[in-house]
This record gives sequence, structure tokens and C-alpha cells, in this order.
Amino acid sequence: MDKIIIEGGNTRLQGEVTIEGAKNAVLPLLAATILPTQGKTILRNVPILSDVFTMNNVVRGLDIKVDFNEDQNEVVVDASGDILDIAPYEYVSKMRASIVVLGPILARNGHAKVSMPGGCTIGSRPIDLHLKGLESMGAKITQFGGDITATADKLKGAHIYMDFPSVGATQNLMMAATLAEGTTVIENAAREPEIVDLATLLNKMGARVRGAGTETLTITGVDQLHGTEHDVVQDRIEAGTFMVAAAMTSGDVLIKDAVWEHNRPLILKLKEMGVEVTEEERGIRVKSDTAKLKPVTVKTLPHPGFPTDMQAQFTALMAVVNGESTMIETVFENRFQHLEEMRRMGLHSEILRDTAMIHGGNDLQGAPVMSTDLRASAALILTGMVANGTTVVGKLTHLDRGYYKFHEKLANLGASIKRVSEA
Ligand code: EPZ
Repeated sequence: MDKIIIEGGNTRLQGEVTIEGAKNAVLPLLAATILPTQGKTILRNVPILSDVFTMNNVVRGLDIKVDFNEDQNEVVVDASGDILDIAPYEYVSKMRASIVVLGPILARNGHAKVSMPGGCTIGSRPIDLHLKGLESMGAKITQFGGDITATADKLKGAHIYMDFPSVGATQNLMMAATLAEGTTVIENAAREPEIVDLATLLNKMGARVRGAGTETLTITGVDQLHGTEHDVVQDRIEAGTFMVAAAMTSGDVLIKDAVWEHNRPLILKLKEMGVEVTEEERGIRVKSDTAKLKPVTVKTLPHPGFPTDMQAQFTALMAVVNGESTMIETVFENRFQHLEEMRRMGLHSEILRDTAMIHGGNDLQGAPVMSTDLRASAALILTGMVANGTTVVGKLTHLDRGYYKFHEKLANLGASIKRVSEA
């Protein structure tokens, strides 16, 4: 098992960092490559992450040809010809995002069997909105032995109102609707930039998706889709993670090719604290002096609200700002576990249901800590940079799902950090 070891206390990150293609964009984009019956689909700017290898295997499991040219960050998928319609437990259990292959397989084959994704440490992660939406399009859904089976001779366009703007459910239903008979309207749809990226790919494939990025999507079904080429959108959460890293180390960092519009809620909150964030030709520059930063209150919300995927990292920033900050996590029911680990480093915080009070500004001490989920891992590594002494972060399988060469990028910016393999 690998470990990351950080010597913290006087880290000041300076320099430039490049970010990868977005994990949360490329996973649904790979699911969309199931849909075309003619031609190849080429995805570029694909990040080299364990979740991408997993999703590639889910698609390969459908007897679809998937080639990942890592040197070029490029995936080529050829889904022409007959495909299978079962997404096996061995992959779905590894990555619950695999559930978004359900809609595309069903739309293409009229039958799909996908293992029921389990929950995870941050929440129970139900998929009721996915299934309810597909049923309203005429699918018959049964659940048995841990599998979901969906059948529909031909999906029909429907008017769907989503109780919650679920990202995954929006993606599943949008993809299913591209080959349905008639028009589908999805109200209260998710508005994340990754939804826009998926709609862009689908329209390049010949689909007719309108309204992506707004709360109402309109999809007019077509008979078939064809292959195309597409560059995966930049990872706004990786970019945001480095913005926070710069802010909490009194740093001066240029995050190259970061997209201001995709990070507005985070950027405006950083500015409210007193962090200098400026848009430059080559990306977004973040400068700060932590001694001058003010505590803030943050509430996570679906986009365009403050992203839940930046919550853990932002609490690490709150930990170094003098005074009492408040973090309210409204999206997931159990996403404060990193605060328990930060307590071992001397952070004082109280958690009451969805609200964490962070008493920032006290000295923190390095300690061995355990990561419980992807963003918690990043938050603990960032905290290790500002804690005095040595911090050791284990269970890096979480980190490797969503960050490429994270420790190397931080080391290039001046952090004293290394990754060691332990027998
Ligand atoms: C996506 O997960 C992201 N994952 C998550 O990123 C992200 O935190 C989340 O969206 C919210 O932005 C990928 O894109 C692969 P949801 P998803 O469906 O689609 C409830 C990371 O760190 N819900 O929007 O699973 C659910 O319980 C990961 O990169 C239902 O109740 O998120 C949760 O409370 C973590 N019923 C809320 O909605 C449903 O049918 C948000 O879930 C579906 C969801």
C-alpha cells in the first residue's frame, strides 16, 4: 500500500500547475460511447485515473472495442455491431458511477442488466431518480439478487420532473432520451459543466439535446447516433483543489487552463475571504496571505451553488484562517469524515448534522491520518502542508480515483511531499 508523507509547517506554494480532463465528465462521456451504432468515437484530454480504467472495462464488458492510448490521453471506442447488455458486479461495485451505462444500454438494446451500485462512505447514494425517470419513459424495471433489469421495446419521450437535480440521473435520462420515440423534457435537471460537456458530445453524435446548463433539458429522440471526436472539459474540482492549496499556504500559483465560469462559486467565496483570484491569459492566478484572510460561511448546493466536491478541501483552508468558519453540507449526508482525521492534527471543530463549525487559526501538528474518500484524501494532504511536522496519509486508492500525480504537482509547487510504497 502506498503512503504520502508530507513535511509541513512553512509551505508556500509558488509556480504553475496544469490540470487534467475532468473525471466527472469523462465517466458519463465513456457511457455515451455505447450509443453510436456507426463509426468510432474519439475522446481526447482523457485523465489517467483508476476510475477511467474501470469505466473502460465496463464498456469493454459489453463487447465494445475500447483503446486507451495513455501517452496521448486519448480513448477510441468502436461500438458498431451488436453489443451485450450486462454491466457486471465486479466493475459496478468498484465504481458506482457505472450506473450511468444503464440508460445508454437500454436505449440501444431494449434490455439492460446492471448491478445495483452500493452506497459509499459519503452517503447512501440511492438511484431512485434514475429508475423513476426510465420508468416514465416506458421501461419496466425489476430488481433481484443485487441486479437491476430494465426492458423497453422502445423508450418513449416523457415529461420528467426530478425531485432533486441529481447529476447521474440527469446524465442517465438524457442519454436514454436521445434514442427514444418523441421528445423528453427533464425539469429540475442538474446544471453542472459536466452535464453541458455530455450534451455537447451527444449533439456531435447526432442527438438533439437542448437546454444543457439550465434546469430544463429538452431531448428530441433520433433513430441512431454516429461516432465523433470530443475534447473532455477541464477538471474544475482539480483546479479548485489547487486554488485552495495556494490560498492556504500564502502562495502564488497559476492554475493553467482553468475555466473561471466553471469555478465561479468557489472563486467568489475565496475572494470573500480576502484571497486574490485573477483571470489571466493562461489560466487563473491565486495569491494570498493567510494572516489577512477572514472566516466565512459556506453552504454546498447543486451547481451553480458551491460544489460539494470542494467541501473537504475548503474546510482545510478554513482550518488556517483565524476565527470561526461554518461549512454546511446539504448534498451528501456523511461528508465530514475528514474533520475527524483533522482533529488528530489539532483542528477544533464541532459537527451538528449538516453543519460543521471550524475554529481556525490554531497551530496544527502533523500526524498519521486515514483517508475515507476521494476528496477527503486531498483535504488531508493539503492540511499536512500547513501542519508542523510529518503527516502520513494512507489508503491512497481513494486519491488515485480522481487525482493524477497529485503529490508530484504539489512538490513542483514547493511542497515537501513524497509518495512511498510500503510492502
Ligand atoms: C456526481 O455524483 C459526482 N460523481 C460526485 O462526485 C458529486 O459529488 C455529485 O455528482 C454531486 O455533484 C460523478 O460525476 C462520477 P447526485 P452523483 O446523483 O451523480 C441524491 C467526486 O468526489 N440522489 O447528484 O452520484 C444523492 O443521495 C464525486 O468526484 C437521490 O436521492 O450525485 C445525493 O444526496 C463524489 N436519488 C444527491 O442526490 C437519486 O436517484 C446528489 O447525488 C440520485 C441521487
